[in-house]
Amino acid sequence: MERGNFGSKIGAVLASAGSAVGLGNIWRFPTECGSNGGAAFILIYLLCILLLAMPVMIAEFVIGRASRSNTVGSYRVLAPGKPWVVSGFLGVLAGFLVLSYYSVVAGWTLDYTFESLTGGLMTSDNFGTMFNDFVSSPWRPVIFLSVFLLLTHIVVAAGIEKGIERCSKIMMPMLLLIIFILMGFSLNMPNAAEGIRFMLKPDFSKVTKDVVLSAMGQAFFTLSVGMGTLATYASYFKKETKLIPSALGVCTIDTIVAISAGFIIFPAVFSVGVSANSGPGLVFITLPYVFQKAFGDLPVLEYIFSGLFYILLLLAALTSSISMHEISTAYIHETFKLTRQKAATIVTIVCLLLGIVCSLSFGIWKHITVAGMGFFDLFDFITAKFLMPLGGLLICTFVGWDMNKKMVANELNSRFTPLLMLLFSWVAPIGIGIIFVYGLISK
Ligand code: PHE
Repeated sequence: MERGNFGSKIGAVLASAGSAVGLGNIWRFPTECGSNGGAAFILIYLLCILLLAMPVMIAEFVIGRASRSNTVGSYRVLAPGKPWVVSGFLGVLAGFLVLSYYSVVAGWTLDYTFESLTGGLMTSDNFGTMFNDFVSSPWRPVIFLSVFLLLTHIVVAAGIEKGIERCSKIMMPMLLLIIFILMGFSLNMPNAAEGIRFMLKPDFSKVTKDVVLSAMGQAFFTLSVGMGTLATYASYFKKETKLIPSALGVCTIDTIVAISAGFIIFPAVFSVGVSANSGPGLVFITLPYVFQKAFGDLPVLEYIFSGLFYILLLLAALTSSISMHEISTAYIHETFKLTRQKAATIVTIVCLLLGIVCSLSFGIWKHITVAGMGFFDLFDFITAKFLMPLGGLLICTFVGWDMNKKMVANELNSRFTPLLMLLFSWVAPIGIGIIFVYGLISK
């Protein structure tokens, strides 16, 4: 079967960065950072990126490009008959689960983009009630969720170069531009220094086992690693694409965006004196209130600021959702020899059904819980704190211990290969293992 390819190196990096930069950076990072004490969380998070998640990213690149296959197929090519293929199946499972609940939040974002552009956000006087009424409605969020999944579907069905690469090349620069404009606004708000201090001055008394597990979960989630997303993308990389510099580029862009999102949100939040610790509602309840209060007498600015912010969130969500979709689409397309369009349709329909379940867990199905969590929280927990770290552990262990050494060295093609082998074989698996077991036992 003819496989697609990214047409250029920059396209490959932008698509991978598009996968990494998403709601995880702009919605999940500030939320986690706000609830886990600010600067101390950020420090642990950065360590997790450097020592654990980035090695997993490079290992995924190696697996993907060496095998030129989807995440399940890659183990069949590289380690036929061995049980590593389980890691591929876990990736496909995680892909379905993440995309389902991710699309729910992306659907909310679509609604807020719409509301902010039509002026609806400016006239509201109680954002908490507005948000709660919206997410608990049985149909409105489902409509937006469906529209968002449809957009994702269209890009993925269009193929690697014409769909994913082209979309990332247009959207990523727009996204970076909007971030810098918003940061400029935010850092100039009165009392912004308070927010900057929250992000830069660590208070280690706030660090618990839970904070460390959350930081690791966030590191994996934000870099899209541990479930074969980037292995799938790397299977479309050309031979000349250098894996280590590409990974460094993706991690740098992702980290800059996450920290910048913090610098957009916290100065604004502190500037109007609301709590930084308001959970998932931070960008949907607290922020619109902040926009309104900060620019109350300059409605044009409120309109521009909130409009730009939700467009930013939407673009980021779309470049990530297409990568989650691609994991399962590539698997079904290549394994069952269906056309890309048919494979994509199956993925879209399954995710829509699962997404509806997640969405209803904020309203009429609120009372249904598993281990004390509704479906939405359960999907987030299972993927970010369980499947992704477990997948990351398996991926690193495979590349560090079992994959053909010559092949790994060939793919890495760098003088840092011995250092990376140390990270793959020892540092990342042991680090992930300790945090993982420790964090889960303490539950
Ligand atoms: N990294 C994406 C984000 O930060 C989320 C994601 C997770 C994308 C897993 C693909 C796979 O929003």
